[in-house]
Amino acid sequence: MFSSNYTNRLFGRTRGRSKKKINLNNYYEVLVKYKFQNFNEKSEYILDVGTGYGESSIFLAKQFPDKVVLSCEKYIDGNIILLKYVQKNNINNILLHNGNVHNIIEITNKEYFNLVWIFFPDPWPKNRHAKRRLITSEFLIKLHKILKENSEIYIATDSTIYVRFILNSIYKCKKYFNWVNQSEINLSIKDYFDIETKYYKKAINSQRKPSLFILRKL
Ligand SMILES: C[S@@+](CC[C@H](N)C(=O)[O-])C[C@H]1O[C@@H](n2cnc3c(N)ncnc32)[C@H](O)[C@@H]1O
Repeated sequence: MFSSNYTNRLFGRTRGRSKKKINLNNYYEVLVKYKFQNFNEKSEYILDVGTGYGESSIFLAKQFPDKVVLSCEKYIDGNIILLKYVQKNNINNILLHNGNVHNIIEITNKEYFNLVWIFFPDPWPKNRHAKRRLITSEFLIKLHKILKENSEIYIATDSTIYVRFILNSIYKCKKYFNWVNQSEINLSIKDYFDIETKYYKKAINSQRKPSLFILRKL
């Protein structure tokens, strides 16, 4: 169903470092129930990219019970935790794509999404890894094509290197998006949502201040 090329390759871990045994058969059995297959014309969608342990998807599903949250993540240890929570709490508006967000973009032939969240994308701070960064102007333009009119993208990061890179990407696609919160005093996540993902907590514990960028489709 999905193809991939180098530019859109997904780097990073699929499994956690802990040697704890995970019953993968059990994971795939549960995944079938929540796996994203196709868009339903009657549904409205939120795209949640790189969900880690799933906190953002759970938050969005509760915040927008009338929308379907499409959670994209290849990190199985995180997905297991998300699916356990979803099952235990009977959450019925989260679907999971256990893989690369580019797969979803490739098969999206319409403006299906009302919102895109990208919380703490991997910063790949070394110069030689810069090509691995997800947020580029090309990527934002791809998102522009699948977003409904006036819909928004939320990007959070605590990496100063990535902030500069993201700003440059936003600048390059200024024809496509209005950067809504352009003033420094408007960049704090907590002014918008009460959510603490694993990487949000990591940033705060290390005295790094996360920034949130809000882009609205023009
Ligand atoms: C730094 S973690 C952040 C996790 C979570 N959002 C948080 O705030 O704690 C970034 C996550 O993005 C995922 N990721 C990276 N590139 C991705 C892509 N192209 N598609 C889907 N997920 C991706 C990684 O597997 C990783 O789990």
